[in-house]
Amino acid sequence: MNFPKVLIQNRKVYTENSVPGSKVYGEMLIKIKGIEFREWNPFRSKLAAALLNGMKNMPIKPKTNVLYLGAAEGTTASHVSDIVGKDSIVLCVDFAPRVMRKLIEVSEERVNMIPVMGDANKPEQYEEYTGGIKFDIVYEDVAQPNQVEILKKNCDKYLKKDGFALLALKARSVDSTRHPDKIYRQIKQELKEVGFEIIEQINIDRFEKAHMFYVLKFK
Ligand SMILES: C[S@@+](CC[C@H](N)C(=O)[O-])C[C@H]1O[C@@H](n2cnc3c(N)ncnc32)[C@H](O)[C@@H]1O
Repeated sequence: MNFPKVLIQNRKVYTENSVPGSKVYGEMLIKIKGIEFREWNPFRSKLAAALLNGMKNMPIKPKTNVLYLGAAEGTTASHVSDIVGKDSIVLCVDFAPRVMRKLIEVSEERVNMIPVMGDANKPEQYEEYTGGIKFDIVYEDVAQPNQVEILKKNCDKYLKKDGFALLALKARSVDSTRHPDKIYRQIKQELKEVGFEIIEQINIDRFEKAHMFYVLKFK
């Protein structure tokens, strides 16, 4: 399946490069019918892994605004930036000083990416960078024990009505002693209890051990 600005072929996934000629993490660039695409590494990005594992509902599309929690060095966020286009924003939040330099460097070239140092547990910390908008998508990849709680807090404050949440869940961050399947059952329950509806869940274990990727609606 292909989605706008996303190309999936021969078991590889690509995004149309919004900054032709420029690479973010050493990825391959290819040209098809005069359009340049960047290869999207599923071992470096859980969203690419989910797409290659057959994800059917892809709410990130051109002209959507994305709040990205746990942006790290901007690997996945740069592909999200390619997809949403220059008229949208990808607000990239991370609390680790060590990733900021690279995240800022990537954001200098990609004008729709806004790097912010902040704690996703405290959504009010980055309110001033949102420009007062609500987001079409809240994307979370923070590898924390309270991943669901963090997602709910941010969706309560920043997700548009009818928006989507995307969650890359690392089972071992929730509890490293229990089998991932038990964690997934627990998370399913937790998500339901706090008001999320699971639209789709994609096991991405073959790319990232003990990870599940969720497409969610909120309330
Ligand atoms: C697995 S990495 C994210 C990789 C990235 N999403 C990608 O695909 O390119 C998890 C990131 O979440 C960040 N993180 C963890 N807890 C956080 C929190 N409470 N607030 C903000 N960032 C957090 C970490 O600093 C780390 O950079």
